[in-house]
Amino acid sequence: IPHFAAGMGIYIFSLILASLLTLPFALRAICPYLWMDILYFWDLLRILVKFVSRRRRRPLFFVLDRFFEQTAAFPHKPFVVFGHESYSFAEADKRSNKVANALLARPEFKAGDTAALFMGNHPAFLFTWLGLAKCGSPVALLNHNIRSKSLLHCLGCCRPKVLIALKEAVEDILPSLREQGVTVLLMTQQCDTPGIESFADKVDEASDAPLPRSLRSHITTESPAVYIYTSGTTGLPKAAMVNQNRLLTALTVLCSNGVSSSDVIYLNLPLYHTAGFFIGFIGSIETGSTIILKRKFSASQFWDDCRKYNVTVIQYIGEVMRYLCSTPKRENDKDHKVRLAIGNGVRADIWREFLSRFGNIQVREFYASTEGNVGFLNYVGKIGAIGRVNFLHWKLFPYTLVKYDTERDEPVRDSNGLCVEAPKGETGLLVSKITHIAPFVGYAQNEEQTEKKRLRDVLKKGDLYFNSGDLMRIDKDNFIYFQDRVGDTFRWKGENVATTEVSDILTISDCLDEANVYGVKVPGHEGRIGMAAVTVKDGSHFDRSKTYSHVVNYLPSYARPRFIRIQKAVEVTGTFKQKKVKLVEEGFDPGCVQDPLYFLDDNEKQYIPLTPQVYFSIISGEIKL
Ligand SMILES: *[C@@H]1O[C@H](CO)[C@@H](O)[C@H](O)[C@H]1NC(C)=O
Repeated sequence: IPHFAAGMGIYIFSLILASLLTLPFALRAICPYLWMDILYFWDLLRILVKFVSRRRRRPLFFVLDRFFEQTAAFPHKPFVVFGHESYSFAEADKRSNKVANALLARPEFKAGDTAALFMGNHPAFLFTWLGLAKCGSPVALLNHNIRSKSLLHCLGCCRPKVLIALKEAVEDILPSLREQGVTVLLMTQQCDTPGIESFADKVDEASDAPLPRSLRSHITTESPAVYIYTSGTTGLPKAAMVNQNRLLTALTVLCSNGVSSSDVIYLNLPLYHTAGFFIGFIGSIETGSTIILKRKFSASQFWDDCRKYNVTVIQYIGEVMRYLCSTPKRENDKDHKVRLAIGNGVRADIWREFLSRFGNIQVREFYASTEGNVGFLNYVGKIGAIGRVNFLHWKLFPYTLVKYDTERDEPVRDSNGLCVEAPKGETGLLVSKITHIAPFVGYAQNEEQTEKKRLRDVLKKGDLYFNSGDLMRIDKDNFIYFQDRVGDTFRWKGENVATTEVSDILTISDCLDEANVYGVKVPGHEGRIGMAAVTVKDGSHFDRSKTYSHVVNYLPSYARPRFIRIQKAVEVTGTFKQKKVKLVEEGFDPGCVQDPLYFLDDNEKQYIPLTPQVYFSIISGEIKL
């Protein structure tokens, strides 16, 4: 009997052992993503612990302190490479000391004052930002493509003392800048424009001595660090205030993707946007990786650059992937060291093509917005998805999709006045609960716009959510897919365009009375391209070349309406809201639309009639947009 018992014991033991060993396989078959979900949550926890311990440090720990740590650890490691120029961490440190000292030598600027950067991608951008961080100064990152009214508006949001620019596109607003008491400094050796001073020469002469910590003693975790401009649902760009605390969280994005100091990052997205600045620049400070900085994206140089600099990590927006896939095939397409692509907005078909053509690159599609309080990461590499519902992530950052009425442009409400959650598989508006760990700071000097992004009485009376303005869908396997933007914005070439801003510009032209702006889809392109349904002023006619010059002068290329539809009257809904849904559906096909249609032709430098022939050239891709 003892033998039997022992034998039984061993039998039961091996049974348990076997089931323990096979359990992971069984689970894997039942829930194929469980292991990845656990790993992801583990990563999330690790990052959270690190973040919390940094928050506890005294004196307070900021992104700049991480830069100092990296400089101490690898002083001679290349930090930024730009064409033939290369700067180590120590050199970047010295160069930014010079910028800070040159600024502090000026009577109109003192530590803690806000500054605005009006620069394209250039090492000077990074050094100036670091220099300003050393002065404890918040920095407004201006989109250097914007002009006139929009630019002035952006400056008004954050009231900088100085504006530091690379080129002189600020001339046309110089009088207004002076009125607002903004000093304009140009990163050149000399400058002949009255009212603008050269600054690069002063930086060269300035001392490279480190800046005392006391200059930054006023900073708290809530202090503004940078202002990033976003085109919201309405009106002119809004300055999203990014405080020190949030900037600290930005450090984590790259390291949560396994990027380390041995990585080389190819940064060709604009530094004034969240993706380039947070993930590329701030992310490299965290990981200690090398940045290969490019002025802008070039499909023809992309892979040669990757080979030349041994790039291991690339950043993308959807258009980047599309352009890369549409370059002529080459034999060495798979010959590179790129292992990871981080970005957002790539469509499933392009994603597949990218992988089959350029080899086994891990594509990490993510979703985040500058001011939003929830983000997703597609950590399993499911093609087409922007992320995955993860219960523990959801516990930390509660969000949901609610039914949205695109006609009325607002969430559907039930008889109790609450929103209605969209069931799985259905499209809904992403809203995320505003909490202590998922705060929504809002926009600088713009309480009205801030309030517009807050959504109350969502699931319970009195609750408060952030309205992302993005329509999403969650499938039965819990993958999240981006569907569209709602309301008065559309996305083209990776930029959000606020339609009201474009209509404002159109209606100050000589011949147009009213303008209703929207985005339309063009086959073979991501996002939507700008279109305007306009009415012509009484007694006037549509001046094709004047309107062209007006649009080109006042709007960056991505925001220009490429199609114009002339209407007798702008249709409005019962609430006098301009009726867009129908216009969007009708698009720009001259075969369907009876109204006269025009196309912005950059070669002819005017709007030309949109004939069926022009239409087919656009649809077939013969005319590049
Ligand atoms: C890239 O890597 C190769 C081989 O590992 C090396 O010989 C080359 O010097 C590296 N190039 C750069 C720019 O680091």
